[in-house]
Amino acid sequence: MIGNINHIAIAVPDVEAAATRWRSALGASVSAPQDLPEHGVRIVFVSQPNSKVELMEPLGTASPITAFLERNPDGGMHHICYEVTDIIAARDSLVNEGARVLGNGEPKTGAHGNPVLFLHPKDFCGTLIELEEVAG
Ligand code: CO
Repeated sequence: MIGNINHIAIAVPDVEAAATRWRSALGASVSAPQDLPEHGVRIVFVSQPNSKVELMEPLGTASPITAFLERNPDGGMHHICYEVTDIIAARDSLVNEGARVLGNGEPKTGAHGNPVLFLHPKDFCGTLIELEEVAG
């Protein structure tokens, strides 16, 4: 059902510092910071030929990653995003398998303008999974 890994997201306390670290130490190609107020994060993309990593810092007072950073002050892997071609079919199949969808179960518009859903980390070995619908 799942396709490629679209991105891996890492929560960081300071996205500028993290971008510099990835660029200097790892020689990575890192985008300019981008504010996504509707998602409560400020992000940069680290692009590789086969996928990307998103480094994200909390933006605003109600950021969904604030609690994560309180538990992991140095930052840490926050979620992995898999591509699917039909997010409703994927959701229904997952619910059938006993997986829990976060929120009200309806897809929201994600950081890339595509429909996304998140699956409960307890159902996937402690890993928050995002599904993103991409054109098949
Ligand atoms: Co994501």
